Parts: sequence; C-alpha cells; structure tokens
Amino acid sequence: MKRDTILLIGSNGQIGTALLPRLQDLFGIDHVVAADIRRPERATGLFELVDATRALDLAEVVHRHRVTQIYHLAAVLSARAEADPIGAWNLNMQTLLNVFEVARTCRIRKVFVPSSIAAFGEDAPKDETPQTALLDPSTVYGISKVAAENWSLYYHKRYGLDVRSLRYPGLISYQSMPGGGTTDYAVSIFHHAVQDLPFDCFLREDTLLPMMYMDDALRATLELMEAPWKRIRVRTSYNLAGMSFTPARLADAIRLYYPDFKVTYSPDFRQQIADSWPRSIDDSVARKDWGWKPAFDLPRMTHEMISHLSEIYHPTVHSL
Ligand code: SER
Repeated sequence: MKRDTILLIGSNGQIGTALLPRLQDLFGIDHVVAADIRRPERATGLFELVDATRALDLAEVVHRHRVTQIYHLAAVLSARAEADPIGAWNLNMQTLLNVFEVARTCRIRKVFVPSSIAAFGEDAPKDETPQTALLDPSTVYGISKVAAENWSLYYHKRYGLDVRSLRYPGLISYQSMPGGGTTDYAVSIFHHAVQDLPFDCFLREDTLLPMMYMDDALRATLELMEAPWKRIRVRTSYNLAGMSFTPARLADAIRLYYPDFKVTYSPDFRQQIADSWPRSIDDSVARKDWGWKPAFDLPRMTHEMISHLSEIYHPTVHSL
C-alpha cells in the first residue's frame, strides 16, 4: 500500500506545533515534512526552511519529498493583520495560491486550509451562526479567509482538487502561544494564572466568543481529512463549534484553581474585531456530514490547560 507523505506548512505556529506530533504518529516520522519560515527550537523528524510565498521553493520541497498531502497553516492572524492590511493580504493569499498551484500541478491527493469564525461579519446572525450565513468580514484577515474559501471551492470544482477546510473558533492550547489573534487572551490568561500573575484582558469582560480546546481542533482536522470524499459536501469551509465563553466566565473557571486570581479589563482595538464575530456557532452540518462532536467544555479545558501549564512552569510541585 502506498503511504502518504505530509507537508505541514507553518509547523512552528500555534496549530502546527500541536498538529506535528499527531501527524507523525499517524503517518510515521519519515512521512511528515515540517516546514516553516523559521527553524524550530527543537526539531523532531524532517524539517524544511521554506518561505511559502516563493512558489518555486515550495514546489522543490514537494517534489523532493514526494509529498501527497499538504496542510497549509501559515497565516497572519486577525489583530496583527490590521497593522499591515496589504502585507497580510499578500502573505495570506500568495501562500494559499502557491499551495493550490503546487497541489494541482503535482497531483497532491488532499489539501487542508483553515478558515475561521473571522469569515463572518456584522450581518451574520451572532448566535448559533449557521453554515450558510452571509460572509461580510470587517477585518483583512476575515476577507482573506472568505477569499480562501472561494478559491478552495474553485480549485475543487475546476480541477477536482480535494481541498478540505474548517472555520476554526478561537483555539486554546498549552503547546505554544498564538501570535497576533483576537482570541489570544484566552491562552495568555492561563499563563498568567499559573505563574500567579494578574492578567489585564484586552477584551471587555462580557465579550462572548466561540472557542475550542486544541485537542478538539486537531481531532476535527484529522477526522475531516480522513473522512471519505463523498461525505465532504462543503468545499468552502465547515462551521466548527466547541464552546462559547466570555473573559469573565473564563476567569471564574480559573478561580476554581486560583481563587485569588486578579483580572482587569482594558479593551483596545481588538474589541471591535471581536464584536464583529459570532458569539456561538451552529456546526450541525459538520456533525451530519462527517460525524463531528466536540469533547471539551469549559471546565474540562480549564483543567487540562492548568494541568499542562503547571507541569511546564512548576515541574517539581505539579499536582492536580
Ligand atoms: N483566533 C483567530 C484570531 O483571533 C481567529 O481565527 O485571529
């Protein structure tokens, strides 16, 4: 049986860092090529220094490793993109189109490209936002995600490319820090709590947003990618839900472990971005098409995050 070889672009990023070992377990360490624009601090397995905006470099790596599947996880996130809209658009779109072109011309079997709740804007219903709600994003990141969804459908229809995609909620993980996102507070807050530091949140305490523990996001990604072709009826991107909470609710959940944890609120420009996004997501289409079901709610995620971060920050006193 022919084995797949995976190219993971953005392997040092928030999702890439957590996904890499899962892919290595699934496909074998010699069948996963990690790629990023920076060298990782610790490399396990195959690594290629690749700038995915350079089509020829990308194609060379794909050829040399006989890659058959690509996970494209390199992007500038929502808040950082607002500081340099054209730069962010160029990076997000150029890397995407390079991936699609190399996939088309090198007969790549499957491609994963992430979308986001940021694809929705002011005019989508805020609660239980449906799969087919209007996509009128107000950030350049969201605009690039909507464009990516449309390009995915285009490459699927025109070239038969097997592109699969999820609209990730805010992702929470202990393995690495996100960078430049609007939902990042929900990761930093844990790092502060576990180090006994007060936390100043850049969103208002009542800002309800869809979120997901990384374990669920990874399982969703791998289940989507393993699902039979005919089960994938959405070729733009699937809505995906885990939980929704506000900074105040998250702080309360953390106070079950750290009763004296202090949180203050200083909303900045990211508040406006958060206010343009859904409060909760209807993911019934993903549940129906390929059997998606989240496993982590707020209490379970909080326990996992504090447990893992305690091991990292206080390896000798860890006990939960
Ligand atoms: N978590 C991302 C961000 O905040 C949204 O996809 O930018």
